[in-house]
This record gives sequence, C-alpha cells and structure tokens, in this order.
Amino acid sequence: MNSFKGKTVLITGGTRGIGKAIAQKFSSLGANIVINYVNSKETAEAMVEDIKRNGGNSLSIQGDVSSFEESKTIVEETIKHFGKIDILINNSGITKDNLMLRMLEDDFDRVIDVNLKGTWNMCKNVTRHFLKNKSGSIINITSVVALIGNAGQANYVASKAGVIGLTKSLAKEFGSRGITVNAVAPGFIETEMTSKLPDEAKAEYLKQIPLNRFGTTEDIANICVFLASSEASYITGQVISVNGGMV
Ligand SMILES: NC(=O)c1ccc[n+]([C@@H]2O[C@H](COP(=O)([O-])OP(=O)(O)OC[C@H]3O[C@@H](n4cnc5c(N)ncnc54)[C@H](O)[C@@H]3O)[C@@H](O)[C@H]2O)c1
Repeated sequence: MNSFKGKTVLITGGTRGIGKAIAQKFSSLGANIVINYVNSKETAEAMVEDIKRNGGNSLSIQGDVSSFEESKTIVEETIKHFGKIDILINNSGITKDNLMLRMLEDDFDRVIDVNLKGTWNMCKNVTRHFLKNKSGSIINITSVVALIGNAGQANYVASKAGVIGLTKSLAKEFGSRGITVNAVAPGFIETEMTSKLPDEAKAEYLKQIPLNRFGTTEDIANICVFLASSEASYITGQVISVNGGMV
C-alpha cells in the first residue's frame, strides 16, 4: 500500500460525500489533510479533530472556490500551515438541474462558476507553487455525464466537460515540469448529491450499470490515491471513468 507520509493533500468541498471519503482515505495513508468547506464549519472541525485523534495531521479552511480571492487564500493558508501542497483534489461541485427551456440564466452561471471557474481558480493558484517545487499532482473530479451528455443537466454537463478540457490543457502545459493533471469521471455514486433524485430515476440508472450497483465514495477515493501515487507518475491528461461499466 502507498504511503503518503509527509505529503499534503488539499481537498475542496471535503466535508461530505466523495470529498470526505477522499480525505479519510489519504489520511489513513499518512498524508496531511486540508479540508476546504463553505458553510459546514462544525463538520469540518469535527473531521479535523477525528483525524488528529487517530494520529494524523489536518486543517480545515473556509472558502468559496468560485471566488478567485478565496481560492488564493485557501492555497496560501495551506502552505502557511503545512509548508507545501503536493496534491490538489478539485472535488467541489453543485447541480442546479432543469430542462433547457426552464433553466434560469443564474442557474447556468452559478454551476459554471463553482464547477468550472472554481476548478480553474484552484489550479491557477496552486500551479505557481507546484512549479517552484517542480512536482505536484492535480486531480479534477468531473462526471460520466460530461462524456455522454444528460437531459436536464446542460449547465452541469457543460461545466464538467469544461473541466475535462482544462485538465487536458494543463497536463500539456505542465507535463515538462513534473506536474500531472488528471480527471476522474464518477458514474452514479451514492451521496447526498444523488439522494435528491426520485426513486424511479435511480432505478433507470441502475438498469444502465453492468456491475449492477451504484458506486461508493470509496470507489472514487481509491482511484484518487492511485493517480496521486508514484505508481501513476507516467499518467497525465487522462480522464479515468469509474462508473461500473455504465459508459
Ligand atoms: N455523486 C455522484 O454520483 C457524482 C457523479 C459524478 C460526479 N460527481 C462529482 O463529485 C464531486 C463530489 O460530489 P458529491 O456527490 O460528494 O456531492 P456533495 O454535494 O455531497 O459534495 C459537494 C461538496 O462541494 C462543496 N461545495 C459546493 N459549492 C462549493 C464552493 N463554492 N466552494 C467550495 N466547496 C463547495 C459542498 O459544500 C460539498 O461539500 C462533485 O464535483 C460532483 O459533481 C458526483
């Protein structure tokens, strides 16, 4: 098993769902964990305490990734506390689903701002630091729907497809500097985000999954650990699908 002792992992939106599982997994492998959150201060602080109780190192930082200034602060605070960042996981994401004819301009803008601009903000602020260190790994969480489209999610799909383009471009810009940039495209993962869907919609999704189960947050955490490990040092600019065979 990989050890991440001495490595610092910054996870955006790390207090629940996929982000929380990623934080817990890296923490179990010895990494210093930075949990970014927007509103859930108490949950974030409880996670930090939990990690420390188990012998790990952790810090929580409030900040909205859609704000360039706040993203900058998240990166600066992490470096101030742990001295460096080795792995950035852009996990924050929101949905504001509706069919095109009913989708409001504000719902398009906000989803793009958090999912795509937020990822760009974090990448922009961390890459200068990675260049100085001549190493670093960025993992952007996109989605299976970015590969195939989805009715009722034009804003979300556009944002996540944008994240794939951003990932591939940054991989080309920074490859020669020892920095890898990859994306993970989860399929249907059981979290609070997907719990909002009606039961009939979930049943329809399940029919499309050859492995006949929804994914777990650990399924996503496991691939993030691999992509951030030295075993994956020759992998960059890729989109890794974790979807039970759905696509
Ligand atoms: N659950 C799925 O089936 C699934 C499938 C494909 C992709 N994803 C993606 O995986 C990621 C995690 O999803 P999840 O299911 O755990 O969802 P979730 O809603 O449980 O978690 C999203 C996290 O992002 C945080 N967040 C929202 N806006 C933010 C902002 N402006 N700044 C900082 N943090 C912010 C939230 O507070 C929350 O902690 C998201 O990017 C999502 O789009 C999820």
